[in-house]
Amino acid sequence: MDTPAALAVTRLTLTRFRGYDSARLEPDHRPVVLTGPNGAGKTNLLEAVSFLAPGRGLRGAKLSEVERIGGSAGNGTGAGWAVAAVLDTPTGPVEIGTGRELSAQAASGAERDRRVVRVDGHPAKGQTVLAEHVAVVWLTPQMDRLFLEGSSGRRRFLDRLVFGFDPAHAGRLSRYEHALRERARLLREGHRGWNGDEGWLSGLEDQMATTGVAVAAARRDVVQRLRAACGRAVGPFPGADLTVQGTVERWLDDGPALAAEDALRRSLRDSRRADSDGGGATLGPHKSDLAVRHAQKDMPAALCSTGEQKALLIAIMLANARLLAAERGAAPLLLLDEVAAHLDPQRREALFDEILALGAQAWMTGTDDSVFGPLGGAAKRFHIEDATVTPA
Ligand SMILES: Nc1ncnc2c1ncn2[C@@H]1O[C@H](COP(=O)(O)OP(=O)(O)O)[C@@H](O)[C@H]1O
Ligand SMILES: [Mg+2]
Repeated sequence: MDTPAALAVTRLTLTRFRGYDSARLEPDHRPVVLTGPNGAGKTNLLEAVSFLAPGRGLRGAKLSEVERIGGSAGNGTGAGWAVAAVLDTPTGPVEIGTGRELSAQAASGAERDRRVVRVDGHPAKGQTVLAEHVAVVWLTPQMDRLFLEGSSGRRRFLDRLVFGFDPAHAGRLSRYEHALRERARLLREGHRGWNGDEGWLSGLEDQMATTGVAVAAARRDVVQRLRAACGRAVGPFPGADLTVQGTVERWLDDGPALAAEDALRRSLRDSRRADSDGGGATLGPHKSDLAVRHAQKDMPAALCSTGEQKALLIAIMLANARLLAAERGAAPLLLLDEVAAHLDPQRREALFDEILALGAQAWMTGTDDSVFGPLGGAAKRFHIEDATVTPA
């Protein structure tokens, strides 16, 4: 018998989520295969799983976009949506509920777009607590452009990898981003007169300096470990050479974290004038980037073929999963949207073998059942049609 995956969704229910009025499925510890025609609701289901981790899910959606349009209970105007899951984790079973909850208290716009989170029935203060229970990494067709587009997608990709190793990263990142936004607002509103808010401004910059250096240090640490794990080719997947690039990261190469904090604090103070015009902040971990090279070709990922870029991403994901399985006793949930069909048979079978060896609950979608044939009985299959899920 195979060893049970240490992190697996065993029950998933969706309410007013995208095309689903309601849906319920009960996977087990095996990888999950979802097949069905275009538009059936396969990606929507992966998106629901992606909301078990902090963030905006695999489509980077606004909470309001996710809510079901049409259907029996409202038309995107106020009934809210929910995803609930029971998971087996290395520390035992956990129940997670999340969604957009609309109620009287949700009158203001800010409240309306706050994601509600419950863990074992208890309301959590924020969504960052999710990182303590669930690690989720995904690969979607949109990510074919990850190496070609701006750095924000690569930062989000990297941060999701970091959440798995260091659950506190989610909270730090959110505190950093909050302070960054608050400072930008203060500078913008106070345009001329922010001297009056000097204390507040310094406080925010202080918070940005401490959390910002912690964010950069955590990314740097994980990238170093991943480098070692994916530097060489594994089977048909290429070696990936990773570095995190950024000023704060460079400071951390050259000196202790406290010196980096001082330098960031100073830089923020010195750039107030420029930042009040430009918005944001000239410098900080929100500007960092993840640089990836194809190790065998010694070529930046952006110059590799689309297929090679995808193979690089798979290599990074698998290295990440191997490390997590070894260090924390569980591979992350892997959401592989339309990945299998685009690999040649050799790479596809290598991917399946890796997933099974890791004991990872990988959620894989495709329109064609036969692609998943090599998995045989090692996967749990569902068929989806018109937002209706049936065990296959
Ligand atoms: N908020 C929403 N309310 C209702 N339907 C939605 C919503 N968002 C997306 N959809 C529908 O979901 C369907 C796409 O589902 P998706 O999971 O992407 O399909 P696929 O099975 O091809 O991956 C589309 O028909 C789209 O119109
Ligand atoms: Mg899809």
